[in-house]
Amino acid sequence: MPELGYTELTNLGEKEFGLIGLGVMGQNLARNFQNHGYSVVVYNRTEQKTREFVARHTEISAAYNLKEFMGSIGQPRKVLLMVTAGSAVDATINSLGDLLARGDVLMDGGNSHFQDTERRCIDLEKRGVNYLGMGVSGGEEGALKGPCIMVGGPREGYDQVSEMLNKIAAKVDGPCCQYLGPRGAGHYVKMVHNGIEYAIIQIIAEAYDILTRASGIKIKQVQGIFSKWNRAELNSFLMEIAAEVLAKYDSETKLPLISLVLDRAQQKGTGKWTSQSALDLGIPTPTIDAAVQARNLSALKDERISAAKVFKHPTKLRSLRGSLVQSLRRAVRASIIVSYAQGFHLLRAASMEYGYGIPFAEVARIWKGGCIIRAKLLDSITRAFRTDESLSNLMTDSRLARELMSSEKSWRGTVKAAKEAAVPVPALNASLDYYDGYRSERLPANLIQALRDRIGAHGYERIDRPGHFHTNWSA
Ligand code: 6PG
Repeated sequence: MPELGYTELTNLGEKEFGLIGLGVMGQNLARNFQNHGYSVVVYNRTEQKTREFVARHTEISAAYNLKEFMGSIGQPRKVLLMVTAGSAVDATINSLGDLLARGDVLMDGGNSHFQDTERRCIDLEKRGVNYLGMGVSGGEEGALKGPCIMVGGPREGYDQVSEMLNKIAAKVDGPCCQYLGPRGAGHYVKMVHNGIEYAIIQIIAEAYDILTRASGIKIKQVQGIFSKWNRAELNSFLMEIAAEVLAKYDSETKLPLISLVLDRAQQKGTGKWTSQSALDLGIPTPTIDAAVQARNLSALKDERISAAKVFKHPTKLRSLRGSLVQSLRRAVRASIIVSYAQGFHLLRAASMEYGYGIPFAEVARIWKGGCIIRAKLLDSITRAFRTDESLSNLMTDSRLARELMSSEKSWRGTVKAAKEAAVPVPALNASLDYYDGYRSERLPANLIQALRDRIGAHGYERIDRPGHFHTNWSA
């Protein structure tokens, strides 16, 4: 049921746009719409937050209950939900109840699970409401200055808001906003974006670990290395902010702040969802999986402290310092290419499974601006998909394949050096294994099949003739 009751409204008229949920992302998106000339009304469940926000941004209007909020927006209404993903989204949709009219466009800009979005889209379609699941990337800065917007839902709903969304989005070769398909398509692409984000963050963290722990290089020098990498082919937002983070000093202790940050990673779940979906669809995404599991392992801090007392750590590999940085740069680059390859491979499978029709070249293009995984490499990825939209795995694009092959020696050398120093490199290692597995014409799955047949008469196929076979292996 909609909320009813006392309202105190100022400056309300026919607003062009309404936003529910004044967390940091919601606040900045409201300001972004306003800055682009749209009249905006906001609502937040906690009244105090709304009052504080509109006191700071007097050009934005506020409503203190949902009836007045919906009443203040010109029809068909355009409303953006910026509430925490999960049950809060359903609760908000329920409270909007009959206040939603046929033709209204309701957008969910949070990190909702794509299957929740599928369900909500179908439910609201029955009531004639256009529900758009909208992945918004770029953090608080992107929300204010131009995010990357990945939209799914009914096309006619998107057509009503596309002009606004294109205006507030980042711009790189056009607005970084795109309609990606029906129902959960936008949130699916955002989920995979986050899976790739986890993978790249892990790869950068492993590079930092190899440089500092395995090679004894000082944080200040690592900062210099990352800055240098960011000026060449590894140029990306994540490399840029990694260098920025390493440059920060603690004002009290005068130590690099990173050395004081607890090594226990948290997560909100989008990386895990990517791996779960990849498992469901039978698509290998080992680098993303490794990144999720590396966070899980890091979270076992107390157990790691105990285990470190039991298992003695081998000596450091200081002698490798000279050539290591160059090899590492190539290993990082190759592993990042592989992370995108896995992400796009998964997108292709999901697009088929759910009938999304995701335009891959456009996904690569919009990821060039506003979002967390924006990177120079996306120029090559966009080009690869524009050349061949049916490319099943990015690694096989001729230019990227050449680069991977020329990086092989460095890549293996880096993983080997890390292994000898007993520094875990799950993402670099998983990427190399994925590359080696994907390009192997023969894998030991023949033995897996023979064992399966031996265990449970599951049958096997042969390479020399068609059909299904069973053998009594123990006879
Ligand atoms: C973005 C980010 C943002 C957030 C992720 C990851 O695209 O702006 O991906 O959505 O950083 O939710 O968060 P966790 O690391 O906490 O899972």
